[in-house]
Amino acid sequence: HFISQNNQIWHGKKVLVTAGPTQETIDPVRFFSNRSSGKMGYAIAEMAAARGAEVTLVSGPVSLKEPHGVSVIPVRSAKDMFDVVHREFAKMDVVIKAAAVADYRPKEIYEQKMKKTNGDLHIEMERTNDILQSLGGKKTSQLLIGFAAESENIEENAKKKIQKKNLDIIAANSIAEKNVGFQVDTNELNLYFSSGKEVAIPLTTKREAANLLLNEIKTLLEER
Ligand code: CTP
Ligand code: CA
Repeated sequence: HFISQNNQIWHGKKVLVTAGPTQETIDPVRFFSNRSSGKMGYAIAEMAAARGAEVTLVSGPVSLKEPHGVSVIPVRSAKDMFDVVHREFAKMDVVIKAAAVADYRPKEIYEQKMKKTNGDLHIEMERTNDILQSLGGKKTSQLLIGFAAESENIEENAKKKIQKKNLDIIAANSIAEKNVGFQVDTNELNLYFSSGKEVAIPLTTKREAANLLLNEIKTLLEER
């Protein structure tokens, strides 16, 4: 019932969604990752497909069912996600980056399972590439939507990312609050637009939040 408006504009639109965490390998049995469940990105992919869009979902490792009518490309590391997203980018109309991409990865991958010693362990980490920022530098007519999970100074931090990554919208949520963000089924988002427009999405299900976000993207598609 949220899909009440005319969704004609979504037909044939190519939408790329990223979701879930990435896993950064330490050795054959260990990795660094984060608490992302993938639920927000999966809800966006599902709802965009329901509106008639052609949806590709690039997903880190999650335990969710493939959304109906969506083409899923599974990936593991930030590097894998970077490569797949860049391969697909040119043909897309809309890119929504809901994935929680690792900022750092171990500088070296141990070929064999690490053995413990009596001393402490130090693992040297190096930066991953920022996928969204790279897309922002390459974008032609695509709409680019990012997410920002912040634990402090939400508005200021989120707005900086719009500029830095050349985004059309950033959806910010506070990971400091209960029932918001990682792992749960609900979310509360503040949308900041490059135009200066702001839209608050009050605490609701991730599906409804996805629909409200898609309504805003639809307006931008109609304006272009
Ligand atoms: N992102 C990305 N590639 C990365 C890191 C982040 O594409 N290597 C994307 C995320 O998918 C998200 C947006 O950038 O849509 C913001 O991610 P976030 O972690 O909030 O911001 P960062 O730029 O990584 O900055 P920081 O973690 O320091 O706040
Ligand atoms: Ca980050």
